[in-house]
Amino acid sequence: MRTTVGIVGGGPSGLLLARLLHRAGIDSVVLESRDRAYVERRQRAGILEQATVDALCAAGAGGRLAREGIVHDGIELRYDRRAHRVDFPSLTGGRRVWVYAQTEVVKDLIALQLAEGGPLFFGAEVHAVEGADTAQPVIRYTHEGREHSLTCDYVVGCDGFHGVARTAVPEQVRSTYERSYPYSWLGVLAEAPPVHDELVYAHSERGFALASMRSPQVSRLYLQVPNGTDPAHWSDERIWDELDARFALDSDPAWRLNRGTVTAKSVLPMRSSVTEPMRYGRVFLAGDAAHIVPPTGAKGLNLAAADVIVLARALGAWHESGSVELLDAYSDTCLRRVWRAEQFSYFMTTTLHTDPGQSGFDTRLQLSQLDRIATSPHAAAELAENYTGLPLG
Ligand code: APR
Ligand code: PHB
Repeated sequence: MRTTVGIVGGGPSGLLLARLLHRAGIDSVVLESRDRAYVERRQRAGILEQATVDALCAAGAGGRLAREGIVHDGIELRYDRRAHRVDFPSLTGGRRVWVYAQTEVVKDLIALQLAEGGPLFFGAEVHAVEGADTAQPVIRYTHEGREHSLTCDYVVGCDGFHGVARTAVPEQVRSTYERSYPYSWLGVLAEAPPVHDELVYAHSERGFALASMRSPQVSRLYLQVPNGTDPAHWSDERIWDELDARFALDSDPAWRLNRGTVTAKSVLPMRSSVTEPMRYGRVFLAGDAAHIVPPTGAKGLNLAAADVIVLARALGAWHESGSVELLDAYSDTCLRRVWRAEQFSYFMTTTLHTDPGQSGFDTRLQLSQLDRIATSPHAAAELAENYTGLPLG
């Protein structure tokens, strides 16, 4: 089999890229190792920058998003048992974010691709990408028990953190920069109406907590927990009590979350990682295949979308005129934005979480930084600009 762009991985990066290429008249094939139900069920983050929403609309996947997505104009920070709201539009010249779950984005993109796009194969496990430095790279994969190969003009590795495409970049030219964190998140999905109409990020002596949402009826909640935590040790009652303790306010001692049935519970590790370069020969890396951020800044999905927007433009220019200038610039263009998001995600994570080895001095630095955001429009604007998303470049 042969195609113009072979896409390894059918997560948000691979699917959005396939849609954008389809709209530009460029053929592609998406190979996804898991089945459709698994990919559609995976619970991930849910904050979309405006540029991500614009790209989903350009890809034809804006319909349900426009009906069910919720626009947010700010977030609340809680620290020292006080609340402070960061207002995005006034600090950024009108920018805001959308709340719409990644799992819904994935469902919308899959439905469209199957209805009108190029081939999307589930259960297609890629085991090698060969010939990155030749004119015709080849993807080798197994589908329905048989070995196949797909010859391409370009290959894009959208196969996430544990993918294989990264290894098409030879070790001598590949560098990975990483950091892990001494805590994880316990993520909870609950049939409980969110109390507050915006996201609440809490720094507390007991550790970080986040109140997010999926709809007016469904809350998504997170608690900082030690690495290696077994979610089975957290009963529903313990989760609700701990969340209430971490969100406690002196000004409103009666403030409580609405409780409801917990429908999912899982522990997520926190990691930062960047692989450079994001391109070698005719193989490109996009999304989690090239970089991971801890979820505190809500940047993972948006970075993945930014990569494929830049790549779709570059492939579009090559398709129209034969020019490879934008393709040559892809890795540098993306990495500038990636490192900014890495810094922001690190900043949000280390400012809001309690490191088990943290001293009283460290805690006071965190509180001083949060107070700075609450009292200085400059400090607040820095947060708001990064959170709502920097220009694509
Ligand atoms: N062959 C085929 N598919 C593969 C292979 C392989 N060898 N290895 C991994 N995959 C698939 C995975 O099953 C997954 O569906 O690649 C896909 C990668 O998807 P994601 O991990 O969701 O990565 P990406 O599309 O870049 O999306 C990034 O996901 O992890 C979140 O926070 C992150 O929101 C960000 C987004
Ligand atoms: C989510 O809704 O899942 C979510 C929101 C904001 C974050 C992380 C996760 O920073």
